[in-house]
Amino acid sequence: MRIIVEEDYESMSKKAALFVAGQIILKPDTVLGLATGSTPLGMYNELIEMYKREEVDFSEVITFNLDEYYHLPHDDLQSYHYFMKENFFKHINIKEENIHIPDGMAFDIEGECREYERAIEASGGIDLQVLGIGENGHIGFNEPAEQLNVYTNLVNLTEETIKVNSRFFSSPEEVPQKAVTVGMGTILKARRILLLANGEKKAEAIRDTVCGYVTTQVPSSFLQLHPDVTLILDKAAASLLYSDMI
Ligand code: PGA
Repeated sequence: MRIIVEEDYESMSKKAALFVAGQIILKPDTVLGLATGSTPLGMYNELIEMYKREEVDFSEVITFNLDEYYHLPHDDLQSYHYFMKENFFKHINIKEENIHIPDGMAFDIEGECREYERAIEASGGIDLQVLGIGENGHIGFNEPAEQLNVYTNLVNLTEETIKVNSRFFSSPEEVPQKAVTVGMGTILKARRILLLANGEKKAEAIRDTVCGYVTTQVPSSFLQLHPDVTLILDKAAASLLYSDMI
């Protein structure tokens, strides 16, 4: 694992945007795996600014998002369809047909999950997967459990994730209990992985990701098995790592 520690959220976001833009400049038809949440927002803003300055071109880029809530309409303000459109896609020149987000509204959810995996394969596979991380070590919505899914699946969210994510809803009861997420195998098949984390609340999860056992109780710990993972952290998220690791 390559670990880069930045002073603060702003410089973490700038470095992450440069990382992603570099990938796209070298391979304009890059297949990007994308994440939602507060963490990558700054990176999306930086990428939008780089696009406006004509430093990066998204016209051939293909994207696959990690996850989506189950049974939340695409135009719901908390849906990840809405999040991606408002915070990134509507500001850049990506083609509508190149955007993929799991459809949590699909009537046949199992069929939708299989089709999502097939579409990733058909695109040639993910070149660069961007990840955030949950306080409990989840990546995508692969939650700590006895067993983890390999492929895209419908999963139950943990009480902890529902509580953490309730900050975006008017009450915890409104947070969907389930979500569609790509699986651990889908993530680990990406050629390169970039994980971002900021803030003290993520420090334990980052410590367990980098130097703990590989365990299904910390899904992000499986990233230790991948040959090309970069972590870009702010100082607070890196605060429980020893200096010889950084
Ligand atoms: P956050 O979520 O970026 O809003 O902290 C990250 C995650 O839950 O994966």
